Amino acid sequence: MIKKYGILAYPARHSLSPVMHNAAFKAMKMNAKYSAFEVAEKDLDVFFKIVRSEPIDGLSVSLPYKEKVIPYLDRIDDDARKIGAVNTIINIDGLLAGFNTDFLASSKAIFSDLGPKDHIPRKDPVAVVIGAGGAARAVCYGLLKMGVHVWVGNRTKSKADGIAIEFAEMFTDVEIHSVPMDDLGSGDFLVNTSSIWTLDSEAGVAELPYFCTPQYVKHFKVVMDICYRPLETPLIQAARLAGKHAITGDKMLLYQALDQFQLFTGEKAPVGIMRKALKEALVD
Ligand code: ATR
Repeated sequence: MIKKYGILAYPARHSLSPVMHNAAFKAMKMNAKYSAFEVAEKDLDVFFKIVRSEPIDGLSVSLPYKEKVIPYLDRIDDDARKIGAVNTIINIDGLLAGFNTDFLASSKAIFSDLGPKDHIPRKDPVAVVIGAGGAARAVCYGLLKMGVHVWVGNRTKSKADGIAIEFAEMFTDVEIHSVPMDDLGSGDFLVNTSSIWTLDSEAGVAELPYFCTPQYVKHFKVVMDICYRPLETPLIQAARLAGKHAITGDKMLLYQALDQFQLFTGEKAPVGIMRKALKEALVD
């Protein structure tokens, strides 16, 4: 019997997940198919009935459903519950279990390629995280788990305050504080999780915020933007101009998919195959 997987999102048709997972299934000669499920919110109830009846064996979950799927699940993993967002669902004999592979993916993306010149102190490293949506929650959680102190800033400050209060209760060895957007401060890592480029890409961002200038970025050692369309965001460009270690959004996208593949199939993901499929899809 063919195994069925897919991404639940709205919109879903531009997702890069099908390309990565189908390439992996093909390379590993698995009888499995990964589709895009573009489901409107009013149809979520019906969709989850279909997931159980078909059955669909596993789902990736993306915008805007990472929080909204939680009531449909029978089980939720501890990290996903604390983050408050699920990006992976697996169907185990009719029971739907939710996981979050974004938080480990973000810290792997940040820490995996650091060279000797990046000089991150072992004790008390600090990250400034921009944004306070679902992605920011996963990134902050991943960093705190790695022992990194976090200053989180968001356009709507109350949302950053909320994350800081909530996570400060969970983590006692590391600090998390909300900071104003016009005074984000400095640190070892700067991570943009906001959808500033994604949403404004067509209109163009009229004036670059100060946090995307080489003058500001120079205060950090490592800069990551989780946006992958475009890959070379103004923040990444500023980081390159300032000679900083710049990490583009395809890294986190790949790492979350690798862990997801392992949850779906129980097999280690073919990293090279999935990386190549993603790279080719991104230049299309
Ligand atoms: P995700 O799950 O990808 O994090 P989200 O929950 O919609 O998506 O969150 C989007 C984030 O990008 C929010 O922090 C949002 O700020 P607000 O809370 O003020 O809405 C931020 N964001 C979106 N557009 C922005 C812009 N033009 N400038 C700054 N921040 C922006």
